[in-house]
Amino acid sequence: MAPRPKKASKQAAAEFTDEAPSRNDAVVATAMGDDDARLDLTLRPKTLDEYIGQDEHRENLKVFVEAARMRKAQLDHVLISGPPGLGKTTLALILANELGVAAHTTAGPAIEHKGALAGMLTKLEPRDILFIDEIHRLTPVVEENLYPAMEDFKIDLVTGDGPHATTIPLNIHPFTLVGATTRTGLITGPLQSRFGIVLRLDFYTHRDLASIITRSARLLGTSIAPEASLEIARRSRGTPRIANRLLRRAWDFSLVARQSEIDLATARRALDRMGVDSAGLDEMDRKLLDILIRFYDGGPAGVETLAAAAAEPRDTIEDVYEPYLLREGFIARTPRGRVATRRAYEHLGVKPGGRTSSPPSQGSLLE
Ligand code: ADE
Repeated sequence: MAPRPKKASKQAAAEFTDEAPSRNDAVVATAMGDDDARLDLTLRPKTLDEYIGQDEHRENLKVFVEAARMRKAQLDHVLISGPPGLGKTTLALILANELGVAAHTTAGPAIEHKGALAGMLTKLEPRDILFIDEIHRLTPVVEENLYPAMEDFKIDLVTGDGPHATTIPLNIHPFTLVGATTRTGLITGPLQSRFGIVLRLDFYTHRDLASIITRSARLLGTSIAPEASLEIARRSRGTPRIANRLLRRAWDFSLVARQSEIDLATARRALDRMGVDSAGLDEMDRKLLDILIRFYDGGPAGVETLAAAAAEPRDTIEDVYEPYLLREGFIARTPRGRVATRRAYEHLGVKPGGRTSSPPSQGSLLE
């Protein structure tokens, strides 16, 4: 079926876009800086066929999209969870593109009261996508007002104040809510139960990341040797946003060296200069491990303690750093807090119970 005419421009410059406050001073920056945002727009896949990785989710989404088109109905509400940079927004925009509808994007903290929510919902055309990033940060009142909208496509408009307040029930067009969160654990049960499609994005394999890097290099107008793609992939923490950022830095080095292709040596030089080590850890990762091992004797230490010692917000540690350190076996979670594993000691060159035997490649960050 031919999708209805696209409101592509609306999709790109989504209406109520409100990016979360940006922090972009680390390789693993939690939010996108301007450069990243521009890069992201160029490199973002527009269709499910272009999308690399998350194979099971991608193939399932193709079926759900096709079925919604055949029914000429809106797609069921979709909840996407996963660490930052794995493509939650990209998937929401792809869904809109595939369905031939507009994507309206906003973020949980930007919807300050139920009136703001009503304003957004009443602007939606039939089957449009409303993308709410950081949906776990909606206020309870806004969240409760979302329920009837999600379930029955109805909202209550309140006019007037106090004793003169009147509630006017209003039908809105059927739409698809795509919610994104870094942690499903923070989504309330009633909200979660209203999503028909729930996707947990996982870190990408090195192979998929290498394919993404090769594709991105082509779109940027350069080329990269396969072994260089793989090296960047191995050191990108399973995250396309980081892979694309590191690719760009490697491209800088190859351009300045007047090379026609990014080769392995150049990729390695760029990664080393960016402070990304052989395991893909950056300065903050190593700092966290260092704190755990040297200040807290390997742990257990609570996340609040680590956050204070590293001068980093707790949320950033939980959303950005911890998932990868856990997944790669550098730390483990126990009921009493985080502990450093043998791999962490080996990586930092520290003997359990002892001092640093030789400084880690980037030097100990606490010194
Ligand atoms: N760029 C960023 N993420 C991507 C993905 N999953 N597939 C293709 N290109 C991408």
